[in-house]
Amino acid sequence: MPTIERIHAREVLDSRGNPTVEVEAESMGRIVYAIVPSGASTGEHEALELRDRDDRFHGKGVLKAVRNVNEIIAPKLIGEELDSQERLDQIMLDLDGTELKTNLGANAILGVSLAISKLRAGIQGKWIYEILGDDYTLPVPLLNVINGGKHAGGKLAIQEFMIVPHGFDTFKEALRAGSEIYHSLKSLLKKKYGVSAVNVGDEGGFAPPIDKSADALRMLVSAIEEAGYSPAEQVSLAIDAAASEFYHDGRYHIDDKQMTVQQMLDLYSELADEFPLISIEDPFDENDFTSFSKLMKLMGKKIAIVADDLTVTNVNRIKQAMEAEAANYLLLKVNQIGSLTEALNAADLCRRGNWGVVVSHRSGETEDPFIADLAVAIKAERIKTGAPARSERTAKYNQLLRIEERLGDKAVYQGTLL
Ligand code: PGA
Ligand code: ZN
Repeated sequence: MPTIERIHAREVLDSRGNPTVEVEAESMGRIVYAIVPSGASTGEHEALELRDRDDRFHGKGVLKAVRNVNEIIAPKLIGEELDSQERLDQIMLDLDGTELKTNLGANAILGVSLAISKLRAGIQGKWIYEILGDDYTLPVPLLNVINGGKHAGGKLAIQEFMIVPHGFDTFKEALRAGSEIYHSLKSLLKKKYGVSAVNVGDEGGFAPPIDKSADALRMLVSAIEEAGYSPAEQVSLAIDAAASEFYHDGRYHIDDKQMTVQQMLDLYSELADEFPLISIEDPFDENDFTSFSKLMKLMGKKIAIVADDLTVTNVNRIKQAMEAEAANYLLLKVNQIGSLTEALNAADLCRRGNWGVVVSHRSGETEDPFIADLAVAIKAERIKTGAPARSERTAKYNQLLRIEERLGDKAVYQGTLL
């Protein structure tokens, strides 16, 4: 069995221009690279992203995490056989010894964990999705085409307004629809609000001067029609409220109002009645399981209620959410938990608990397409990886195009399973 011959971490930049950890690893002449993403609307219960907090990069340097890889993790793992992801991840979890990876940093551990997976694929001459699963599907993309909240400088409280091209036979056709609608939206926004309305936010979606949630969704329906597609039948809508970000002093500050939980429930009901909305993520504060459950009772049979900051890809929090019937979909982000094995365990738990899975990027991304392979291998129903623009987003979509082509006749698009 081949062994890990070399592990080396360095500091590189993410899509926002902030430092992040890259891990290079080598075995049998194969050299792989894995880069760790980073959130902006980060959940309070996520594993620790270790930052230097000194005068470099406004405190955001990751040299401590890099050192933890090079001086603590690498000496332990070099020479180990590449037999099992789980065993190698466990060595790192034991080295760290804390629940939230506060000793070594989730960014240090995850970089190595992803690199190990790439090495294991590389030495077998396989693609990553092939070693992570044995039965595959192509996920439906949730394309974030209007950016609000912390990801843009506008007035929209809701963070993400997404189009969901499910009514197609292949991922390739769905992505084409996504791209065409993105460009129709660009023209419509320019016409209505002027050229500065098509400046983009962190995830490549436009950041127009719209201040009401319903108006943003209305623009998306117009763009779908303008591009020649049929809303609801072919292309539906999804939102990520990321509501913790606009919850202050017991009220949700949205659409120029200060809303109670009941008013938010009414708002979501109105939006779901008026628009072809099939998915609502983080509708309430990240600690408010009770309000999530209320929304589930109201519409959980019809649409996806997605837990992101609520559950942070952590099996303990997911179990809690399952018991409370607080959601029916998990947003799975590998860096929220900090190792591939734990992320895969979270996905397994969802399968057992009858939850769907949306594999997700972060707002601070990189050119690493790893999550595309992951989504295919765990047969995630959906993937959320931004607008069909900007290379850190298209890196994932393009990898899905490659995988679909490679699977040929065996490729199954999740949209066709709905
Ligand atoms: P983040 O946003 O990466 O900034 O946390 C993505 C999300 O909330 O889903
Ligand atoms: Zn989210």
